[in-house]
Amino acid sequence: MALSASVGRASVRWRPADVVEEQEHPVANPWFESVAEAQRRAKKRLPKGVYGALVAGSERGLTVDDNTAAFGELGFAPHTAGLANDKQMATRVMGQDIALPVLISPTGVQAVHPDGEVAVARAAAARGTAMGLSSMASKPMEEVIAANPKTFFQLYWVGDRDVMAAKVERARNAGAAGLIATLDWSFSYGRDWGSPFIPERINLEAVRRYAPQVALKPSWLWDFAKTKKLPDLTVPNMVATPGDKAPTFFEAYGQWMQSPMPSWDDVAWLRELWGADRPFMLKGVMRVDDAHRAVDAGVTAISVSNHGGNNLDGTPASIRALPAVAAAVGDQVEVLLDGGIRRGSDVAKALALGAKAVMIGRAYLWGLAANGQAGVENVLDLLRDGLGSALIGLGHTSIDQFGPGDLVIPPGFERHLGTAGADAPLGNPASSA
Ligand SMILES: Cc1cc2nc3c(=O)[nH]c(=O)nc-3n(C[C@H](O)[C@H](O)[C@H](O)COP(=O)(O)O)c2cc1C
Repeated sequence: MALSASVGRASVRWRPADVVEEQEHPVANPWFESVAEAQRRAKKRLPKGVYGALVAGSERGLTVDDNTAAFGELGFAPHTAGLANDKQMATRVMGQDIALPVLISPTGVQAVHPDGEVAVARAAAARGTAMGLSSMASKPMEEVIAANPKTFFQLYWVGDRDVMAAKVERARNAGAAGLIATLDWSFSYGRDWGSPFIPERINLEAVRRYAPQVALKPSWLWDFAKTKKLPDLTVPNMVATPGDKAPTFFEAYGQWMQSPMPSWDDVAWLRELWGADRPFMLKGVMRVDDAHRAVDAGVTAISVSNHGGNNLDGTPASIRALPAVAAAVGDQVEVLLDGGIRRGSDVAKALALGAKAVMIGRAYLWGLAANGQAGVENVLDLLRDGLGSALIGLGHTSIDQFGPGDLVIPPGFERHLGTAGADAPLGNPASSA
């Protein structure tokens, strides 16, 4: 059943967030009131293939679905009176003071918007938060860091230690505030709903295949036309020297597939190379035993994450794995969560289950597609305001006060991966090295 209400700026109807329909009428007001609305506008604005690349999860989509569904299983236990107006949301993550416990997770933002990661960086800076910049990003790290000095450069393990060291050196010279190593990628392929066609480069064949999609999306095309450039689909942060000829996304992906998988020794080596006093995050930790290994490798932070459902399908939602990981290592490293955050109340739930902060992916990509930098700011505002409502309703004045007692947690919600718990797979030889 849909509910109607008036919230000042607009008369609105609430519907399940996952229902994303094409809008019948053109968008008159670029401001949107929910991430679901940003997603609808992104779907309307982007060519089908580009939109498909944003929503895609691997294989059956079990994990990408569970990431959002799990938040829906968690309820709140609000207070009635004695509530406060103060909303202390500032925190410190990876050595950076940030105004709210929401960071930008690294994503390759190919072809979503001509300003790409620079627009995202400006939006994050405007809202006082930090950003992860993907090594598959479309803008050089030097430009992004200039737009937001609170930028952490994210690396995949591509090539050997010498190649990695050269990229680390570039990030250091560019002034990256921290390093994020993302290792949870197993090259899974095949999506039941079909993978989008992503061209190797914009050539005649690509134009021919994309033309029918693009013709239906004039506002997206116009954004690029204004810059007199088409999306070039290269990844400029995959080279060691700024300005060197960048590989295409697929060339870089090919190099990555041929690289040896990194060991825990490699993680410790990378961490040390970056500098023991410099912030370093391992992203993609789902298991308690891996979290302990990350601590042993000397990381500053981990993100409990399944790559937004893009990795091994069937991995549980990251929010289900969070409590066990936070309980195990939360007093030794900063524990963040990413995966499925679509509203401020999701942020509150993650904090209540032990996260110091969260990172967002698709939510800001949809905002970027819908309205560029202002759209990303809009998304961050929605998350901040929703988090503020949760603080009020739960009778808190600071994000530090969230705890499990704020939540209604259904039996069996949590997953204790890599522990001796009943639902815990143990004895994986790959993880006991
Ligand atoms: C289109 C897309 C591209 C992504 N690219 C990267 C990447 O280059 N590096 C990385 O560490 N994670 C990448 N991720 C994963 C995100 O950083 C993050 O873990 C995930 O999006 C969180 O889930 P959410 O989208 O539900 O918020 C990507 C995710 C998406 C949707």
